[in-house]
Amino acid sequence: MVQHPDGLGTGTVAGVLRERPPMDRELPAFDPAGAPAAPGPLFVDWLLGALAARVPDPQVGTVSTVDADGLPDARMLVLRDVDAEGAGWLFAADADSPKGRQLAARPAAAWTFYWPQLGRQVRIRGRVETAAPEVCAAEFLTRSPAARAAALSGPQSAPIDSLAGYDAELAAALARLAEDPSLVAPGHTVYTLRATAVEFWQGDRARRHVRLRYDRPGPDAGWTAALLRP
Ligand SMILES: Cc1cc2nc3c(=O)[nH]c(=O)nc-3n(C[C@H](O)[C@H](O)[C@H](O)COP(=O)(O)O)c2cc1C
Repeated sequence: MVQHPDGLGTGTVAGVLRERPPMDRELPAFDPAGAPAAPGPLFVDWLLGALAARVPDPQVGTVSTVDADGLPDARMLVLRDVDAEGAGWLFAADADSPKGRQLAARPAAAWTFYWPQLGRQVRIRGRVETAAPEVCAAEFLTRSPAARAAALSGPQSAPIDSLAGYDAELAAALARLAEDPSLVAPGHTVYTLRATAVEFWQGDRARRHVRLRYDRPGPDAGWTAALLRP
């Protein structure tokens, strides 16, 4: 039993969740007949719509990769840019992190966005390309000193002994940056998820969800689009 979040005594978790069906609100309509021939422009349109609707952090989504044992792994990452023409979604990460190692071994990923205020999901799948070192370095230098110091302090996801020890490493990295602002973390990498499938899902209060999936056999091929049963 759990305390009811609305102060209505106690209940089961399942009971509390049953009282709160997802997407139980007015959501925008999506007419796939008016959709563009390629997914990039539609994604940008939906992303700008999410920004206009004040969705918090709409540029953050879940990037899924696969480890050496074939086990899926997933984490939130910030979208840095969209190559709408080439259907590329860009993120930046440490090549010396679990996701970086997974991508080095299997350069493929899925990226899932959900914008609750609009009831919209976008699922992107494809191969992952790594940018040239000078592009990665230039992107690194656009970051705040705090973000650069964190990346310079050591490999992401490595265990630390204590937060106090980490604070000391951060302070040392900030001091090194102050002396040499051109420092670049060696593993900092810009990745592009080059889509071969992109699905747009518009939720509906009455459960008449609309799904439109774009597919192409390879990065140089044209797109086809199909409606899917929700
Ligand atoms: C809102 C949000 C945004 C994040 N953005 C990034 C990001 O852009 N790059 C990144 O490396 N990690 C980002 N993280 C942290 C990752 O989710 C993850 O914890 C980290 O990258 C380590 O992942 P890994 O151990 O699978 O390599 C973000 C986390 C959150 C909650």
